[in-house]
Amino acid sequence: MLASRALSATIQPARRFRGRFLLAGDKALSHRLAILAGLAHGRSRITNFSSAADCASTLSCLRALGLEVHRRGGEVTVEGRGPSSWKASSQPLDCGNSGSTLRMLAGALAGRPFQSTLTGDASLRRRPVERIAAPLRAMGAGARGTDGNPPLVIDGGPLRPITWDLPVASAQVKTAVLLAGLDAPGTTSVREPAPSRDHTERLLPAFGVEVERSGLLASVRGPARLRAVEMAVPGDVSSAAFLVVAALILPDSEVRIDGVSLNPGRLGFVDVLRAMGADLEISVDAAEPEPVGSIVARSSRLRGVDVTPAAVPGLIDEVPALCVAAAHADGRFTVSGAGELRIKESDRIAALAEGLGRMGARVEEHPDGLTVQGGRPLHGAAVRAHDDHRIAMALAVAGLSAPGGTSIEGAECASVSFPEFYDVLARGASGA
Ligand code: S3P
Repeated sequence: MLASRALSATIQPARRFRGRFLLAGDKALSHRLAILAGLAHGRSRITNFSSAADCASTLSCLRALGLEVHRRGGEVTVEGRGPSSWKASSQPLDCGNSGSTLRMLAGALAGRPFQSTLTGDASLRRRPVERIAAPLRAMGAGARGTDGNPPLVIDGGPLRPITWDLPVASAQVKTAVLLAGLDAPGTTSVREPAPSRDHTERLLPAFGVEVERSGLLASVRGPARLRAVEMAVPGDVSSAAFLVVAALILPDSEVRIDGVSLNPGRLGFVDVLRAMGADLEISVDAAEPEPVGSIVARSSRLRGVDVTPAAVPGLIDEVPALCVAAAHADGRFTVSGAGELRIKESDRIAALAEGLGRMGARVEEHPDGLTVQGGRPLHGAAVRAHDDHRIAMALAVAGLSAPGGTSIEGAECASVSFPEFYDVLARGASGA
């Protein structure tokens, strides 16, 4: 199914996609657990830690800040000695491709009495940081980007609590403000215009910190003392979404993904796929601190729907996978109110229109979304990942249904979130 994985990959069409999968730990949870463990007192043990390159960036930044972090496969131990043990890094902190690392660490560093410079690869250096810098400055830290982008320089010090209204729902910015709030004496609150994933709010109590939540407002009281945790990370639901779509669009297919994160703030794609007619079952096995369970998806006849702006924060990372489903659906599929997609690892609206367009789909770009006119069979083509893991994976899944073979330039960037992706795809797909 896969001819080569170096630099570009060729995906051959498959007759069906079947299998039962257990995935490496969720990326969003792994970042948060590592950073919180670094702020805590005591040894934290995190199992099924994400295999994503992005989470390795978070661990290496923590090490550069003087923390003792050990990793053996999926097991990570962090020897937490409290925030006062963090030391200035002699080098800029390299966040690689990871916006989460940069934004969340910025919050944790705002209260440290030293200067830190956060930077990353070319794609990360194009992404805006003022949304992080502004609240941290309001709390009393120095925070400035370079023309609004990384490198982001944080001059940490004593902080004051604030109530911050987020102009755009962003779990990363919310997390940065709450992490800074752990250092500020008093109550720090963040209000969102729409609910984003609430991993930070769910995890903090496990570290002994109470989070008050009321509607779209989340608050912490500082100064807070965190205690270490032992936790197993559920599988990555954003990775699961690609396997779900593969099963939905190919005939005679079924996937089951067990032990996967089912945080409601991440399941917007399930609601949309069900509205499109997908045969999808979700079952929750455990609810605390994070819902975990199984997803089963079977081949389905799909129809286009309109994804409204209110639904976008709950599926922001799944739009690439949803657009592949949309290309196989009857009728028109639209996404609006998703301008944030233009400032992700790539301009995802443009990258999807280009890639799926080259494969024969009718995709129209809008400033804040796109329209996919479904029902046209795809064909293999030469497409580009645009250094964006989710674009690479979406086009690879589309390639499973495209006669002629699809070559993806830059396919290896899937390892940013899902290094096992092409192996998993090869395991599930049976040849055409
Ligand atoms: C994330 C939040 C989202 C998402 C990103 C991970 C998180 O970003 O796109 O992949 O873990 O908090 P924004 O906060 O920019 O919306």
